[in-house]
Amino acid sequence: MGIGSRIVGVGSYVPPKIYENKDLEEMMDTSNEWIVQRTGIERRHWVDPKSSTSDLALEASLKAIKDAGLEKTDIDMIILGTLSPDHDFPGTGCFLQAKLDLPEITVLDIRQQCTGFIYGISIADKFIKSGSHKNILVVGAEVHSKGLDKTPRGRGVSVLFGDGAGAVVMQPVEVNDPKKDPHLMTTRLHADGKYAKELWLPAPGMAFEGSERWSEELMAEGLHYPQMNGKVVFVHAVKRMAESLTAACKETGIKFEDVDCFLFHQANLRINSKVAEVLGLDESKIFNTIQDFGNTTAATIPLGMDEAIKAGKLKKGDLVASAAFGSGFTWGSAIWRY
Ligand code: COA
Repeated sequence: MGIGSRIVGVGSYVPPKIYENKDLEEMMDTSNEWIVQRTGIERRHWVDPKSSTSDLALEASLKAIKDAGLEKTDIDMIILGTLSPDHDFPGTGCFLQAKLDLPEITVLDIRQQCTGFIYGISIADKFIKSGSHKNILVVGAEVHSKGLDKTPRGRGVSVLFGDGAGAVVMQPVEVNDPKKDPHLMTTRLHADGKYAKELWLPAPGMAFEGSERWSEELMAEGLHYPQMNGKVVFVHAVKRMAESLTAACKETGIKFEDVDCFLFHQANLRINSKVAEVLGLDESKIFNTIQDFGNTTAATIPLGMDEAIKAGKLKKGDLVASAAFGSGFTWGSAIWRY
């Protein structure tokens, strides 16, 4: 059939320090019961003051490269998704590249938030099929904890997010039997920017009137913290993830019951249960990690993949279906045989 791309290495990393829900109770006037009931989250990892997004990305990348049986010098492109960059510019991919000591290779930063990993593997697939690159590192990494309002004002958002990174290495593969051979079978990518302000980080920003992108007033209003309309996000997430996954399965001729492991974005356990309910999926095949890591945005899917492999829930040759939804709004789905 021709050349496709496949995931040949997977790695993840979370910082060691764990914050249980009860650790947030006093900080944010919340409760373990509220968080578990509404989101399924029990704990999350948050970085120490010295660590940055590219530090977490580095650890996950080294593990993925090792898992692929490669030397880091084999990598010829880095695609990095994050909404919590080390700095506004340059992209965090460049900081990661320097830490990997891989000068001159192609680096691409993408800004598709919770859908970043699905966009990332889709872009990698296209570069690989073009023949221009052979060992592409796709990374999702986030340090949310340094950007959250950890006072009662921020509790509706801040209890949800954790820090972490996940990475995969993708390579070309000869695909003879598209149903059976390990490869990325399809990705579907979407966005609808009219909902951009339903989940966003307003400040600092060039869209503010005036000659500066930053002011004391913006900070006093807390506009440098993420703002979210949780109910709107919830409804759209269920609808769009179900819709996109259905289309991906139809396109590839795959029935839901053929899928061995569903790796969904981890925003809320109730979102994933609802998607399962709407589509009639076997919920035992959905591998959730939100209980232990919270929402790590661009990292949730590769982190989940690594955890599923370690737990023996995902083996070489298994069929994986993935879907994500997030800020933008962006959403998408992917199907691959591992
Ligand atoms: N602890 C305790 N109480 C909290 C709280 C917290 N952390 N956060 C909010 N509350 C309170 C609110 O103040 C409100 O109180 P009130 O009824 O007295 O006004 C009540 O809980 C309900 O708040 P609401 O925001 O309406 O809750 P909800 O049922 O919509 O659940 C989310 C909130 C965030 C869990 C839910 O909307 C959600 O998960 N949405 C999707 C978010 C998401 O996926 N984001 C990432 C996208 S990638």
